This record gives sequence, structure tokens and C-alpha cells, in this order.
Amino acid sequence: MIEFRNVSMKYKTNGAVALDKVNVKINDGEFVFIVGASGAGKSSFLNVIMGQEKIDSGEVYVNSYNLRKIKKRELPYLRRMLGIVFQDFRLIPKMTVYDNIAFALRVIGMGERKITKRVRYVLKLVDLSEKAKNFPHQLSQGERQRVAIARALVNNPAVIIADEPTGNLDPVLSGEIMSLFDKINALGATVVVVTHDLELVRQFDHRIVTIENGRIVSDIPAKASAEQPVKAVAEESEESDAEEAELEDAQTSDEEYIEIQGDEDDEAIDIDIDEIKESMQEG
Ligand SMILES: Nc1ncnc2c1ncn2[C@@H]1O[C@H](COP(=O)(O)OP(=O)(O)OP(=O)(O)O)[C@@H](O)[C@H]1O
Ligand SMILES: [Mg+2]
Repeated sequence: MIEFRNVSMKYKTNGAVALDKVNVKINDGEFVFIVGASGAGKSSFLNVIMGQEKIDSGEVYVNSYNLRKIKKRELPYLRRMLGIVFQDFRLIPKMTVYDNIAFALRVIGMGERKITKRVRYVLKLVDLSEKAKNFPHQLSQGERQRVAIARALVNNPAVIIADEPTGNLDPVLSGEIMSLFDKINALGATVVVVTHDLELVRQFDHRIVTIENGRIVSDIPAKASAEQPVKAVAEESEESDAEEAELEDAQTSDEEYIEIQGDEDDEAIDIDIDEIKESMQEG
């Protein structure tokens, strides 16, 4: 659940008002499009959800977290509940598809066997199992975005957030990517997609929230507003040892360039994410 109550936010650097008394509630399992002109505040809205910008007034809740009160050491846990997809994919060029997706799980100390299972599952979900060994430059634009989506999904986040995920894609690929978000939503994830492509928005029956000058000026529900969470995204499938070996083969051999930066996330690294998710669900 994501809830904004009378939220205002301005950027400290230039005083630009990005959000102005925003009230909105997004329930678990919903699919919401956020639309609006350039500079309207769409990315700022997402930045607040991700805990990247502090609000000036009001309250923001993301599941059990009150973001006005969230502590710096809690931010890694907030971010693990969120799968984030960007317009420019942001894949690591020197890593294979497999490693781009596995990377986030390695950082949090997950064992390789479990990683292989999860990576395999999400690659299948985005229909890229056969590209595990490829490097990003060997993929089409649409394939790159599908890898980025697989990476966002691999940690089984409750919420998928995408900022203009089709901004670099032609209309056909854009439709395909949006259908993929549809599928992910049908598997139970809450999906929030920022886009200015109204033509694309019209092809789907989802709630549409319009932001203008930092304010929500319209909030139109999906026509068939019976969007139900079905099941968790990462239903892991059992695979044969041969398939697993094949995937292990896809790992980038030279791993020396992988530098895990010491930052605020360090404290959280050794903790079991499932345990945390469970405890958050209980709370
Ligand atoms: N890092 C920043 N520092 C200062 N001002 C910012 C920053 N990011 C955005 N703004 C300002 O905040 C307002 C909202 O910007 P935001 O990036 O949320 O718009 P947007 O709706 O995502 O636009 P676009 O469609 O162009 O991505 C704008 O006036 C913008 O200039
Ligand atoms: Mg933006």
C-alpha cells in the first residue's frame, strides 16, 4: 500500500515546488499510470516513494513505513520492497544478462543456488532465457528493457515502479513492455508506471492519475476496477541440474570489476530478506 496524505515537497537546491498537497492511495495489487506534462512532478512522486527525497509536509506511507519518520538505516529495506525500472535501462555493460540480474542478490549475500533459481525464473518471465550469456550491447532495446525488468523483479518486490520505461522504445516495443508489466501485475505485484505516452495508456484498462504543477488534477479508476492480487511474483520453479549448470555458465567470468561499494546499505547485507519481508508483513 502506498499512501500520500497532503504531501508537499520542494527541492532544497532551487526551491522548485515538485509536489503540492498530494493525496493519493494505491492499494496492493493495483496498476496505476502516472501521467502529466514534463516538469509536472511525476518523477518527484516516485522519488518520494523510493525515499530519495524528503517531504516538507504531510505523510507518506509505503507498506509499513512512514517515510517522514524513516531512518537512514531502514532505507535499504524500503528499497528492497521496490523494483525500479528506468527509461535508460541502466544495465552494467561488462556483465552478462545473467550477472546483471544476479548482481543485486549477490550484494545482499544470497547463496548462488538460490540466485540461480530466481534469475532463471525471472528470465523465463520476460522470455529471455536464451539470452542469459549475452552482454547488454548484444541485445535489442526492447530486450535490454526486459532484462532491466527482470532485474527489478528478481528480489520479489511488492511494488514495481517504472519511470518512462518505454521512453526509448518504438510503439510496438512499448506495447510489448507494457504488456509485460500487465503480466507482472497479474502475478500480484503493485505496478506504478510513469509515462507521457497517452496513446499507450489508452490501450490498457488501468487507473490513470494525472499530475499538473505538482498537484493531482485527475484520478480515473480502471473501467474494470477489480484488480486483485493473485500470488507472489517469484514463484520459483524447479529445474534440472543440467539447466542450472547452463545458467552458471552464463556468469561473467571476470568478476574483478564488481566492486561492492561500502555505503549505508552495508549494515543490511547479512540479513535474510525473506525474514525481513515476513516480519514487515506481520507488522
Ligand atoms: N533534482 C532536482 N533539483 C531541483 N529541482 C528539480 C529536481 N528534479 C526536478 N526538479 C523540478 O521539480 C519539478 C518537477 O520535476 P519532475 O522531474 O518531477 O517532473 P516530471 O513530471 O518527471 O517531468 P519529465 O516528464 O520531464 O520527466 C520541476 O519543476 C523540475 O524542474
Ligand atoms: Mg520525470
